[in-house]
Amino acid sequence: MKLLVLNHKMNIEYSVLNNYIKELSNIKNNNIKLVVCPSDIYLLKFKENGFTIGGQNSSFDKKGNYTGEVSAEQLKSIGADYCIVGHSERRKYFAEDDNTINRKIKLLLDNDIDPILCVGETLEQKNAGVTKEIIMDQIAKALDGIRKDKIENVIIAYEPIWSIGSGMIPTIDELQNVILFIKDSLKKVDCNIKVLYGGSVNEENISYLNNIDKLDGFLLGGVSLDTKRMSKLTNKL
Ligand code: PGA
Repeated sequence: MKLLVLNHKMNIEYSVLNNYIKELSNIKNNNIKLVVCPSDIYLLKFKENGFTIGGQNSSFDKKGNYTGEVSAEQLKSIGADYCIVGHSERRKYFAEDDNTINRKIKLLLDNDIDPILCVGETLEQKNAGVTKEIIMDQIAKALDGIRKDKIENVIIAYEPIWSIGSGMIPTIDELQNVILFIKDSLKKVDCNIKVLYGGSVNEENISYLNNIDKLDGFLLGGVSLDTKRMSKLTNKL
């Protein structure tokens, strides 16, 4: 069973939401589990239509005077089971650092929400051959101080920054190497965790990417906005 996390980012107009939900509901496949991460204002709507939902972000604090923020507790109260954390766009545009990410993950876990932690290297870092170091550093800092039994609820999404929205994807060998590296590193501390791949996944390359051994699923950006493309993609899984 592959986990497909649909990261809508700041997309989808309200005027097309009902139609989108109707078409996405028609996708039936026992080999996949969909987690829809829409803009917060649509979360309840997806929940009411029977979807598993996740936030795209949550606050680093429990509650209080933080204009524009949504807490882990609030997400849980409307039925969210997942939340994306540390997406490269949040690291870049909202100055989200490792310490903030760590705080968010702890609060999500306290509220029984599975954090989907995004990690990945830039093109410069890839070319410098430091991908594994970068990823391990991000993971270690994000999971610092979290109990082992809790860590198993964290899902890691490997998203090379250079592949997000670019149409470029790593080779199967490169991906296989990184996925196994992440899994093995966490196994060394007795943690079995799920690992996803994200970055320019689409209905064309999904069959190719599905060859990666031990991969638990995919984080889908652009393709997740188009239900016809989603239908083609899921048909190949
Ligand atoms: P993409 O985005 O599929 O459009 O590359 C993935 C992501 O940013 O999660």
